[in-house]
Amino acid sequence: MEFFYVSLLSLFILLVSLSLHFLFYKNNKSGGNLPPGKTGWPVIGESLEFLSTGWKGYPEKFIFDRMAKYSSTVFKTSLLGEQAAVFCGSGGNKFLFSNENKLVQAWWPNSVNKVFPSSQQTSSKEEAIKMRKMLPNFLKPEALQRYIGIMDHIAQRHFVSAWENKDEVVVFPLAKNYTFWLAARLFVSVEDPIHVAKLGDPFAVLASGLISIPIDLPGTPFNRAIKASNFIRKELVSIIKQRKIDLAEGKASPTQDIMSHMLLTSDENGKFMTELDIADKILGLLIGGHDTASSACTFVVKFLAELPEVYEGVYKEQIEIANSKAPGELLNWDDIQKMRYSWNVACEVLRLAPPLQGAFREALVDFMYNGFSIPKGWKIYWSANSTHRNPENFPEPLKFDPSRFDGNGPAPYTFVPFGGGPRMCPGKEYARLEILVFMHHIVKRFKWEKVIPDEKIVVDPMPIPAKGLPVRLYPHKAA
Ligand code: HEM
Repeated sequence: MEFFYVSLLSLFILLVSLSLHFLFYKNNKSGGNLPPGKTGWPVIGESLEFLSTGWKGYPEKFIFDRMAKYSSTVFKTSLLGEQAAVFCGSGGNKFLFSNENKLVQAWWPNSVNKVFPSSQQTSSKEEAIKMRKMLPNFLKPEALQRYIGIMDHIAQRHFVSAWENKDEVVVFPLAKNYTFWLAARLFVSVEDPIHVAKLGDPFAVLASGLISIPIDLPGTPFNRAIKASNFIRKELVSIIKQRKIDLAEGKASPTQDIMSHMLLTSDENGKFMTELDIADKILGLLIGGHDTASSACTFVVKFLAELPEVYEGVYKEQIEIANSKAPGELLNWDDIQKMRYSWNVACEVLRLAPPLQGAFREALVDFMYNGFSIPKGWKIYWSANSTHRNPENFPEPLKFDPSRFDGNGPAPYTFVPFGGGPRMCPGKEYARLEILVFMHHIVKRFKWEKVIPDEKIVVDPMPIPAKGLPVRLYPHKAA
């Protein structure tokens, strides 16, 4: 009997596959000269190969195998149930980043859209684009300068409580703690540990559900993520309402955090953001900035453990800055500008272990790229690794060499950990500051070695050492 059911199921799957294949085939025929490549299995396409190279720790293999087999500039595939083209190399990056909202627009899988807040739920598409344009205002260097001292203060507290007087620590969870505490303070002035946990606990549920299988049934991680996202938004709206009152009564400062800044900034037509827009934007910043920056901090620790000469360079630079400060004096903008070598090291970390592997766009119209037609509605993927690990862009790509960033640095559109064009990561400068402040504190206090010398890396979807990077700490002796 069981055999009968299995056979029936196989027949059913075969029939569905054949019909879907036929449908896709028909679609393809209408697309003209499509890029070379294969679309794999019906529906799932090449998603499994795409994801599994990441799980095994080398996501670039999916891209480079196909670049070698089909074309070094663009190939077709099918990912997450969508017909897709992967644009490769600096030419592909330039094309996509220069045609934002003209030929292509940002696209996220439906699962992400459902959990990830978006102003599109509360306002028109044009308004959402306008709101997106305002984001960099809150995170540009001029706006962030006043937060450096606060970052330093929070980093100090974090290292004293979570790192000092420990022989061994696991880096990734601590890095997540560090970035979340910073965000809670700098975005919404939440500092009280109970209140941070009230946001942090549902946030962890949200972050893990965002990348789970999108089945919205009671109890699934996806369902819990949607609930967590609604809870955090409500919590943020109540903080915003209180802040409005406090600002009106002079009990809160216009410059104390990003929330105040958002409440008091209007667009070019004098229009202010709504409470829900601000809550959405802050939740977006929390999600965009959390695992990305903590993955980057974790890989800084990993590479510095493996490369003593690079560690020495960073240590020398940071200790000089530390020694130039009066007791209790906090880091400031000038100190950050002196961290040139440290930032080159961080950039080399972001080149070799980009926290985001790439991102999707959607074709708004039919268009041609490099002699191939890209049909309207197709999804397009750009991949950081297609240039970061390409010997044409970075000779000896696997060698860790911070001097690549000396002078003018890499050629345009080759180093793209933050993307590019109008949709470039709005948190780039914020990330630079939090990574540098982290580097300052860790090298000032310790040397360290990896507990698991050949710990596996898993990319799902951010790169992380499989066991979270346990390290043995060796505090510097007091001078
Ligand atoms: C090392 C850390 C980070 C890396 C590598 C990174 C990288 C990226 C990349 C590649 C994108 C997508 C660009 C695209 O669609 O082409 C992005 C988007 C975004 N990032 Fe970051 N990011 C980092 C940190 C941050 C931080 C700290 C924040 C917040 C303060 C942030 C907020 C965002 C937001 C809100 C978006 C979505 C922008 C949009 O929808 O247009 N990111 N980031």
